[in-house]
Formats: sequence, C-alpha cells, structure tokens
Amino acid sequence: MALKWVRIRPNHRLLAWIEERLPLLSFLAAHTSRYYAPKNFNVLYYFGVLALVVLVNQILTGVFLAMHFQPSAAGAFASVEHIMRDVEWGWLIRYLHSTGASLFFVVIYVHMFRALAYGSYKKPRELVWILGLLIFLVLMAEAFMGYVLPWGQMSFWGAKVIVSLFGAIPLVGDGLTQWIMGDYLPGDATLGRFFALHVVALPLVLVLLVTLHILALHEVGSNNPDGVEISEATSEAGVPLDGIPFHPYYTVEDLFSTSVFLLLAAFVVFFAPTFGGVFLEAENFIAANPLETPAHIKPVWYFAPYYAMLRVVPHKLLGVAVMFGAILALFLLPWLDRGAVRSVRYRGRGYRIALALFAVSFVLLGAVGAGVSTTWIPRLFGPEADVTAIENAFGRFWMFVYFGFFVFLHLYTRFGFERTRPVPARVRCSE
Ligand code: HEM
Repeated sequence: MALKWVRIRPNHRLLAWIEERLPLLSFLAAHTSRYYAPKNFNVLYYFGVLALVVLVNQILTGVFLAMHFQPSAAGAFASVEHIMRDVEWGWLIRYLHSTGASLFFVVIYVHMFRALAYGSYKKPRELVWILGLLIFLVLMAEAFMGYVLPWGQMSFWGAKVIVSLFGAIPLVGDGLTQWIMGDYLPGDATLGRFFALHVVALPLVLVLLVTLHILALHEVGSNNPDGVEISEATSEAGVPLDGIPFHPYYTVEDLFSTSVFLLLAAFVVFFAPTFGGVFLEAENFIAANPLETPAHIKPVWYFAPYYAMLRVVPHKLLGVAVMFGAILALFLLPWLDRGAVRSVRYRGRGYRIALALFAVSFVLLGAVGAGVSTTWIPRLFGPEADVTAIENAFGRFWMFVYFGFFVFLHLYTRFGFERTRPVPARVRCSE
C-alpha cells in the first residue's frame, strides 16, 4: 500500500478541534506530503494534473456561461451571440470554455498514450486504467452534448447523425432514437435534456470518477517511465528509496508545467480561438437550420478517429459496434497484454513497432474522420480519383492496424514471442 495515513495534530486550537472530528489535514497529507511518487517522472507525467486544471477551467467557465445561456431552439444561438457581444468578458469566458474542450482531449490523449507506453494499465493499476476509460467515455458524452448547445448548423446536424446511430439497434432502435431526442428531430426537448446533463449530471459523474481515479492510483502507487515498482525497495522506515514526497517536489513541478500550459492555452484563446476551424467550425457560426443540410457533416477533431471507423464500415450497425469495440478493446488491455515487462523502454521490438503503428493508425483514422482526404486524394491521385473508394480502402487498412494491435499484443505476449531487455532493479535517474 502506497498511502501513509498518519494523524496530523495541528498546533492551532481551532484546526486541532476540526481535525479531531474530521481529519481533513491528515487526508491531504496522506495524498501529498506523505505520498511518495517515483523520482524519475518525465514530461509525460505532467498531463494528469493538466487534465485536472482543464477540468476546473471547464467547470468555472461553464458556470458563468450557464448564467446567460438559454436552452431553447429559439434562444440558444442568439444567447451565445449575446454572451460573445454584450456580456462583460463573455467572449473570453466562452473561448476559454471552447478551447478548454479541445485542450482537454489533447491532454487526455497524451495521458492515455503515456499509460500505454509505460504499461501503467498492468497489474496492480488495472482499476486506475478502467476508471480512466470510464472518465474518457463520460468526457466524450459531455463534449458531444456541449457541442449541441450553441445550436449552430453543426450542432444540429451532428446531434441528428449521432443520435440516429441508435436507430441501427434492431427492434428498439427507432423508438430509442426518439426517446433520446424527445422528438423526431433534435429540438427543444433535446436541448433541454442535453443542457441538464451537460451542466449538472455529467460534471458530477466526472468529478466523482476523477476522485476515484486518483484514490485508486494512490492506493497502489504511481508507475514511472521505467515501469519499476518503487515499493519493492524501501528504507527501514518503509519509505520507498526511489520515491520523493509529492509535496513539495511534484507540486512545484506541476506549478511550472501548469504555467507553461496556460501560456500556450492563452495563445490559442487570444490569437486563434477557432484554431483554423478545428476547435470551432465555421459552419457552427450559422444558426441551426433543419431544412438545410451542410455539405459535409463532420465531428470535432477529437471524435474523428472513431467517426472514421463508422464511415468506412459499410453496415451501419456493424459500424457502431466497431466504433464501440475500439474503446472496449482498451478496457480489455490489462488482460490481453500478458507481457512481464511494463515500460516500452525494456519491451521487445515487436511491441515498440506495434505501439508506434497503433498511434499512427489513430492519427490517420482521425484524418479520415475529419475529411482531410477530400482535399488530399484529388491532389495525389488527380481530379478523376474516386475519393470515397480510396478513402474507404485507406480507412479500413488503418482500422485493421488499430484492432491488429490488440490481437498482436495478446498473441505476442501469450505465446512467449516477446524478447524483453533486462529491467533494472531500481529506477534510472539522471540526477
Ligand atoms: C478528467 C480526466 C482525468 C484526470 C483529471 C486524470 C488525472 C490523473 C492524475 C492526476 C494522475 C496522476 C498523475 C499522472 O500520472 O499523470 C493520473 C494517473 C493515471 N491516469 Fe488519469 N486522469 C484522467 C483521465 C484518464 C484517462 C482517460 C485514462 C485512461 C484511459 C487515465 C489513466 C491513468 C493511468 C493509467 C494513470 C497512472 C499512470 C502511472 O502511474 O503511470 N486517466 N490521472
């Protein structure tokens, strides 16, 4: 057990009185100054705290947006314009929130990749990983519903396409779609429920899951870039020899990483809030019109890899299954991977190549889902090229690579093909 729970006895009488009845300071100390984290964390370990920073930003700015937003089909779009033009600092609050949404996914994808690279999903951190994936699922629902709220063209048509996916489910599909929308098309009922879920229910679930995620992590202790268990080498007092107290050592480092991150985020917020149409699409600055379908309905960039899978699978229900399967496979990872070694630093060459290909497949599927190929294919293959056919072949190939990663990893580790490198007994550190 990584947590050292020691009762703090403050000198201040009021604090001591509270502490005897509710040991808040002891709890805080157990998770900060008495929590020993490996001393060899690298840059990739900044991203958990950065995710927390973005979560706080989303909640704070969201509260102020909710003060002025009107969740109705007649008022939503205009209320967002009102926030942008009339409300004091409204433009800043909205751009902080919309930029925060995209940065959330940037941070989370790096955070997840770190876990893959260093084998942080493996025993004893399976539950940390599973709670993380539940956070990821809720975050996707949260982002999707948030995107519907401004009631622009892409909000409306995105909601229609995505909610209609439920229609692919045999027997109950159509009824389910109407039940979710509360209507035959996205409208007032949809907006009202998405608003309630987006501002109250899902943030509560997110905060709860994040708390459990961190508690579960602190129970088993953090992994590190070497994948070595620091609890295996301790002093006589039981302190890990390769551990340092999270506070003050990592709180100071996190303060630095947060400052750099906020500086970069400020650049986007002030100089490129739409990020060239990637964070906020041009189509969404046009009010929703149920009678006019946009030429290209595409999701925001962070959904693009999954959307690509949906598009390149010819059968709708199968497409939906493949899309969900892409995330389900991640849940199974701790049990699919039978390798004895955690970190990519000491894993076999096959694993390194497979992980690199997996990352490439995710990015390229994202490109397909974002519709990048509609401009690139004619440029590469000439104006006569069959864009859809080429895009489908390309997307399917990378989709097989994505799923192939899991199959390969299981066979590679289960049947002893992996040739690992010697893992050091203690973490490597450059100090
Ligand atoms: C709101 C979203 C999230 C927040 C606030 C969050 C927060 C954190 C924090 C503070 C840590 C400890 C610091 C660090 O290791 O970076 C951590 C570790 C971890 N997180 Fe998350 N996380 C989130 C989402 C996720 C997701 C989506 C996954 C994976 C699917 C995930 C998987 C992990 C794992 C496996 C660890 C342990 C890493 C290690 O010890 O090497 N987290 N998380």
